Amino acid sequence: MLKGRHLIDPMDFSLEEIEEIFKLADQIILNPESYIHSCDGKILATLFYEPSTRTRLSFEAAMLRLGGKVIGFSEPSSSSVAKGESISDTIRTIACYADIAVMRHPKEGAPRVASMYSDIPLINAGDGGHQHPTQTLTDLLTIKSKKKNLSNLTIGLCGDLKFGRTAHSLIKAMSRYKNNKFILISPKELKVPDYIRREVLEKNNIEFVEVERLEDVIGMVDILYMTRVQRERFFNEEDYIRLKDSYILDGEKMKNANDEMIILHPLPRVNEISYEVDNDPRACYFGQAKYGMYVRMALIAKMLGVK
Ligand code: NCD
Repeated sequence: MLKGRHLIDPMDFSLEEIEEIFKLADQIILNPESYIHSCDGKILATLFYEPSTRTRLSFEAAMLRLGGKVIGFSEPSSSSVAKGESISDTIRTIACYADIAVMRHPKEGAPRVASMYSDIPLINAGDGGHQHPTQTLTDLLTIKSKKKNLSNLTIGLCGDLKFGRTAHSLIKAMSRYKNNKFILISPKELKVPDYIRREVLEKNNIEFVEVERLEDVIGMVDILYMTRVQRERFFNEEDYIRLKDSYILDGEKMKNANDEMIILHPLPRVNEISYEVDNDPRACYFGQAKYGMYVRMALIAKMLGVK
């Protein structure tokens, strides 16, 4: 039962529960008209303390397409946060107005803390450089739709694996399916955090390698997950400038990739994928953004327990 639960970490839901969400998402994709009144009379609150395009707007679009309404803020400076209100007081208040809430916050763990004070289901829409579980639902649904399953895959994650929360959540989630392998491609300074290496990969005996050159491994992956260097999490601008263009996926590099490989990217893209790659049939990142809306429709419906 997903009704009334929070979603803070990709491991909060069992594989069966995730499957349930995907099943509903597939039904919504096939028959969206049947769901236009599913959330009549319900309100979603979006509490965004950090910039967002896709996550916030796909949640809002999802709720509107289910017949519900949306309230919220996308700029903490326009809410009482600017007056010094605590996150626990904010969520207690929002719970009086809305039926479900989505929170993005620059501090790792903030949505977890908020969930402890929340009487309504709360969804983590990204907490600092930590986790981003609904991007992961988006990624999994895209992979499942394109590859027909979530096991026996070699997943290459490339870019900022240190601060990239979407990469952390995807590694956690894909480690739960059988026989997946990881190729982690990053500069030395931007390798995955220790807790991912130890507690997720090593602890579960997952096969993985850490490399620096994309060209050497591009032909070995079924999925190439490109990520942006997370400028806002760097301590100094010089490091960012030095590392920002570590990887640029272009037509030349794509020549060595296999025909069935798919390219994903949570977006926004900065320089890491050349525009020429967009026309390659293996580029799936815009389709991925669309799956994100459908999977959030299914998630909201399940967490609210509507028919
Ligand atoms: C990602 C995020 O916010 O972590 N964006 C998203 O939600 N689609 C990736 C990023 O900002 O680089």
